[in-house]
Amino acid sequence: MALVTTKEMFKKAYDGGYAVGAFNVNNMEIVQGITEAAGELESPVILQVSKGARAYANHTYLVKMVEAAVQENPQIPIALHLDHGDTFELCKSCIDGGFTSVMIDASSKSFEDNIALTKQVVEYAHDHGVVVEAELGTLAGIEDEVQVEAGKEAYTRPEEVEEFVDRTGCDSLAIAIGTSHGAYKFTAAQCTRNADGILVPPPLRFDVLEECIKRLPGFPIVLHGSSSVPQEFVKMVNEYGGNMPDAIGIPEDQLRQAAKLAVCKINIDSDIRLAMTANIRKYFVEHPDHFDPRQYLKPARQAVKDMVAHKIVNVLGSDHKI
Ligand code: G3H
Ligand code: 13P
Ligand code: ZN
Repeated sequence: MALVTTKEMFKKAYDGGYAVGAFNVNNMEIVQGITEAAGELESPVILQVSKGARAYANHTYLVKMVEAAVQENPQIPIALHLDHGDTFELCKSCIDGGFTSVMIDASSKSFEDNIALTKQVVEYAHDHGVVVEAELGTLAGIEDEVQVEAGKEAYTRPEEVEEFVDRTGCDSLAIAIGTSHGAYKFTAAQCTRNADGILVPPPLRFDVLEECIKRLPGFPIVLHGSSSVPQEFVKMVNEYGGNMPDAIGIPEDQLRQAAKLAVCKINIDSDIRLAMTANIRKYFVEHPDHFDPRQYLKPARQAVKDMVAHKIVNVLGSDHKI
């Protein structure tokens, strides 16, 4: 199977009550870990590339690695997506350069400017057989290289979604319902504590999600900032020389619930970073004399694969959905 767009994937996901994982890729081990898991579990998957990933690894290297993954896993549909495109030129460059899907994230602009830029990207993308994700609302964390403090995020206003989708012609819409980017999604002040004193994050705004679904029946919704920041990785990082106190993510049961509704794409990047870093730190502590990168990147790649397999089966519900 060649690279596909997300059109068919999202239709099946919407009707089937599951979501497709969109995992950020920055190097070969990450591409391999994700696609080996998806391939073995017969799950559709989206590999997404940020502006930062392109700056780090180079557009051509990333596209060729993804093409290699497609060749190695011909049984599953794979889409190649631009994550958080912030200009028409960046989106155009990815459309012209082999991507099957792009995100134009003009969510920090005014409603009218967001519509104008999104529409411009949609027209070019659709002329070239590429689909477009847009965004309404602002997530806390870092988005478009703009740092939004926890507590200063803006939830999507459901009363705006129909007009936005109608006027832009976008194919999917990212909304803000309380997720955020990075490994520190909530401050202690935003959380409550359970009986064991463990921080419990505030619940996602399912009321906002449901209101958006009502206004956009059949339309695929996207959730960014959906890493769950597994505490076993945080513990490993801290045990083996790291320092990530209070790292906290989105509870997986809430993501599962969203995936059963109209959420068709769930974005995960921080959990990949954590899986790799935790295992590389452990490896270095346990093998201080080793210096061959293959030795420590192998368990890191395996950790990405195991983590992605867990998400596919237990969070996204996308296994055996090809
Ligand atoms: O949403 C942001 C993604 O995690 C990508 O992060 O811009 O550091 O590659 P990045
Ligand atoms: P996380 O930081 O929660 O992994 O979110 C990633 C993301 O939204 C990429 O666009
Ligand atoms: Zn994002």
